[in-house]
Amino acid sequence: MSPNTQPGSTGGEVSSATDGRGALDLSVRLGDLELQNPILTASGTFGYGLEFAPLTTLEQFGGLVTKGLSLAPRPGNPPPRICETRGGMLNSIGLQNIGIHAFLDDVLPGLADYPSQVIVNLFGTAQADYVALAELVDAQAGIAAVELNVSCPNVKKGGIEFGHDPKMLSGLVSAVRSATSKPVIVKLSPNVTSPAELAKSARDAGADMISAINTIIGMSIDTWSRRPRLHTVRGGLSGPAIKPIALRIVYDVVNAVDCPVIAIGGVEDVDDVLEFLIAGASAVQVGTALFRDPQRGPSLVDELESRLAEQGYSSVSDIIGSIVLPTPRDEEHP
Ligand code: FUM
Repeated sequence: MSPNTQPGSTGGEVSSATDGRGALDLSVRLGDLELQNPILTASGTFGYGLEFAPLTTLEQFGGLVTKGLSLAPRPGNPPPRICETRGGMLNSIGLQNIGIHAFLDDVLPGLADYPSQVIVNLFGTAQADYVALAELVDAQAGIAAVELNVSCPNVKKGGIEFGHDPKMLSGLVSAVRSATSKPVIVKLSPNVTSPAELAKSARDAGADMISAINTIIGMSIDTWSRRPRLHTVRGGLSGPAIKPIALRIVYDVVNAVDCPVIAIGGVEDVDDVLEFLIAGASAVQVGTALFRDPQRGPSLVDELESRLAEQGYSSVSDIIGSIVLPTPRDEEHP
């Protein structure tokens, strides 16, 4: 099928989605993980999912990615730990969470009422923690995949230590790989020289998928008090300000590994979603935008469907990796 390349374009065939003969297929398959659509929540922006049930149509998300879960509950960093910046926000939550046991006992059963796939984001301060967490979730039918958080910039121990060093990352991923049969997603940091090299290490060690990017380390100062706006001084920048960086890294990672890539970073509107998909991501996590409007995820699903239909696609899969790169002829100027 040759989709129209511009709204209103006369080129290409008209699909069944636009002539009323059938519905547009929004489902995506990422290895063994099947999603009803490619829009997921980003870890840390949507609690454990259920809290948002009164505020949004939870069932419309393709997937719900939990706040990072550790073996024991964590109180996180002292406040202030969030502040707004131009085009984004900084956070330094410090992986506050209820712990895996409370999640499995008190939250997971309620998530079974929704068709959205549940992905648990897992965090540890040592390799053994990640392995123990993976073993705990392995038997849980309601969990579709695990996302390893090796990229939180706001903790002194664990997490990003593994995401900086290809050897440590490789050891961690292969240990987790042996501990669970669930699909393993590795969430990468942008705060390294080459995220694509780390993606390769993770993939070679058995990762089924890569998600990228986590937040970019930043800082903000109140000029009246001259105090940093975050207790930890530095924090992770998210929101639309980081999207072009995220897009570049996602594109590099897509070209470095032979597995599905999930994009994260500053998604606000349907063009952001499409850019990531065209660059080769198989799905997209929405984060900071959900703080302002928890319904943004479901509305992006609707907008994606309308936009793809308008452009003559019959399946979202057709646009994934469809980037049109410049050819030498395109680069010639009179
Ligand atoms: O501080 C935090 O809890 C952030 C976690 C993350 O970026 O993964």
